[in-house]
Amino acid sequence: MYPRKCLDIKASDLLYGLLRCLNQTNRIEWVSKLQSKWSSSNDTLICYSVRTGFNLLLDSLNLPAGSEVLVSAITIPQMIDLLKSHQLVPVPIDINMESLAVKSEHLESSLTKKTRMILVAHIFGCRMDLTEVVNFAAKHDLFVIEDCAQVFLADGYLGHPSATVSMFSFGAIKTATALGGAIFTIRQAELNQVMNRRVKEYPTITQFSFFQRLIKYSFLRLVNHSSIYGSIFTFLELLRHDPDQIVMSLTRSFQTGNLSSQLQYQPATAQLALLYRRLSQYRTETIERRQASGYKLTRHFPDDAWWPGCHAKKHTFWIFPICVSNPLQTRLRLKEHGFDATLASSSLIALPKADKNESPTEAQLVLSKILYLPFDVSMPSKDLIRLADLVAPDITRISK
Ligand SMILES: Cc1ncc(COP(=O)(O)O)c(C=O)c1O
Repeated sequence: MYPRKCLDIKASDLLYGLLRCLNQTNRIEWVSKLQSKWSSSNDTLICYSVRTGFNLLLDSLNLPAGSEVLVSAITIPQMIDLLKSHQLVPVPIDINMESLAVKSEHLESSLTKKTRMILVAHIFGCRMDLTEVVNFAAKHDLFVIEDCAQVFLADGYLGHPSATVSMFSFGAIKTATALGGAIFTIRQAELNQVMNRRVKEYPTITQFSFFQRLIKYSFLRLVNHSSIYGSIFTFLELLRHDPDQIVMSLTRSFQTGNLSSQLQYQPATAQLALLYRRLSQYRTETIERRQASGYKLTRHFPDDAWWPGCHAKKHTFWIFPICVSNPLQTRLRLKEHGFDATLASSSLIALPKADKNESPTEAQLVLSKILYLPFDVSMPSKDLIRLADLVAPDITRISK
C-alpha cells in the first residue's frame, strides 16, 4: 500500500545524524555556519521550530492587546493559538483555492484601525505571489509575516524581500527534513538582534533526546515503505487501533497541553549539523521531479477537473489535495486498491469568519471536501495513472 506521506530523508542522513549525536562539537560554530549558509545578509535566526520562532516573534513585537492580524484562511491551529495567547485577534482572509493565493480584495475590506500585521501561509507546496500583499502592507504600515513552512523549494528563495519575516520549517514531514528545526529570515536588524539574543536563553535539546528522535524516525521510515506499510495498517486495524490517530500522534512534534513551554528550546547540536547537511546537499531538481510527477498525475484527470491549486503559478505538490463529493467513500475505495489517502494529512484548518451567520469561506468549503492523495515522486507512472483513474470520477469543483 502506498503510504499517505513519505519522509523526505535518506537512510544516510539518519545515520549521519546518529553519528553526530556521539560527537560533542561546538554548537555556536554550527549556528553561525548555518546562518551564513542560509544568507550573507546577517538576517537569519535558527530555531527549534516555526512555532518556536513565531512565539518568540510575537513576544518580541509585543503588539498591544486586541491588535488585529489578517491571517490567510488556511493554516495549522497552533499558529492561531499563539496569536490568541498574545491577546491578538486573528481575522481570516479568504483564499482563492484555484491559485492558492489570498484574495487581496479582502485585505482592504478587513482592514481596521486595530490592524497591525498580516500572517500569510503558502500552502500545499505552492508558492503564491506576494506582491499585492506586501504593497498593501507598505501602504498601511503593517508587518508581513510570511509562513513558508510548506514551501522550502531549495531554489534560493529566502522569502519575499519586502516581508518583515519569512519562516521556513524543517519538521519531520517537511521537504528536506532535519526532523525539526526552522530558519527565519528577519529583515529588520533590531528585531533580528533581539530574537537572536532571546533564543539563546532557551535550554538546548540534549543529544540523547535527538538520538531517540532519530531512532523513532528511522523506524517510521522503514515502515513507510509501500511493501510493508499495508500489512502494518491491516494489523493495527485488526487490533482495533485507528491508524490515522497513530500516524498523527507519532509525527506530532508537540503534545497537547501548554504549547509555549514546549516550544522554548534550541535544537540539539547534532540537529544543527543534520540541518546544515540537508541544506548543503538538497537540490532543487528533487523538487522539480516532484512537480513533474504531480503534473503527470493531473494530466490523467478529465479536462475540466478542478483541484486546489489547479491554476497556481508555482505548485510543487508537497501534498496533493483534491476535492471529492464524499471524501470518506473515496478514501475507502482507494484503500482497497492500495492507496492510503487521508483527510487530515497536515492538520490544516480553515478559519471561520467571526460572524457565524456569514456564509462559509471558499477555504472552509474546500477543506470540508478535501482528500490528500498518497503522492510521492518514486511512484511509477502506471500507479500514478491508476490513482488518477480511481479518483477522476469523484473529483468535485468547489467554487464561491
Ligand atoms: C502552514 C504551517 N505553518 C507552520 C507550521 C509549523 O511548523 P513547525 O513544525 O516547524 O513548528 C506548519 C507545520 O506543519 C505548517 O504547515
